[in-house]
Amino acid sequence: MHGRAGSGTLPRVDGRTLNERDELLRLAVELRAQAEWQLATGATGSLPAERRSLRIAPTSSDARRAPASAPSPRNQSSPGGALAAESSARPTAPASDAASTPVATEAALSTAALPLSPEREAAKLRLLELAAEVKTCTKCTLYAARTQTVFARGNPAAELCFIGEGPGADEDAAGFPFVGKAGQLLDRMIAAMGYARDDVYVCNIVKCRPPNNRKPEPDEMGKCMPYLREQLELVSPKVIVALGATAVEGLLGAGGGITRLRGQWKLYRAIPVMPTFHPAYLLRSPEAKRDVWADLQAVLKHLGRSPPPVGRSA
Ligand code: URA
Repeated sequence: MHGRAGSGTLPRVDGRTLNERDELLRLAVELRAQAEWQLATGATGSLPAERRSLRIAPTSSDARRAPASAPSPRNQSSPGGALAAESSARPTAPASDAASTPVATEAALSTAALPLSPEREAAKLRLLELAAEVKTCTKCTLYAARTQTVFARGNPAAELCFIGEGPGADEDAAGFPFVGKAGQLLDRMIAAMGYARDDVYVCNIVKCRPPNNRKPEPDEMGKCMPYLREQLELVSPKVIVALGATAVEGLLGAGGGITRLRGQWKLYRAIPVMPTFHPAYLLRSPEAKRDVWADLQAVLKHLGRSPPPVGRSA
């Protein structure tokens, strides 16, 4: 969307070099939008790409919008494809978001240009309240050993939600899900799909770390499920990816082994669920990445998206 032509030069937006005033204005608006979005939603990370994009003064090129289609996949049939390639740099937003960016004139540059439906506003506020309720939860014994609760990360209005088992030591220390080694691999999976890290919503079956990273007990999962149920109602994703056997068990009550269940669509309260291997398992068994990549491609297909070409996701 915009980028620097080289050090010491001013950035170009939509084929136009910005003057210093334009650039300061653009930065101020982006920073304000970011701060207001974080305050309003309780989300972390950067503003979703579709909310971040601002154009300075319309030009004739605004009339020539790129079609809102994602780039065609080069790697779709290659097992492991982009996931195996695993670019670790920060991914860009899905192409369709960039193409649907609203145009803003200088006068209109404000967060008012970021409309949210009243339902979405209400959902985001309720998510904030829910996170606050979870912080003081003592419904099961896991609270006793936690450093802090781990509610969620990412976009609370995401179309895609990843659900794991429960916080590990890194997450317990940070207060956010999937920030350790498994989380870094999850981020590369997200990037390989063509999403930015904060375009998707990420949470867990239980919100407190089980001691020694043991699997949460059924009663611990059961006591925590009402929080997840409400989270999912509020975020209302189009697809859930259940990461590993515990996530599948917590969501669907289904035992029977992730090896058998992965790759097969299920439903959680009318939301399609794709069970797949947990990233921690992939760290131990990298050969399973090809299966996970097949599952993630099925998810993209369901969402009407294509993975970006290999090397383009970052
Ligand atoms: N594993 C999980 O299932 N969740 C996390 O948040 C981190 C690791």
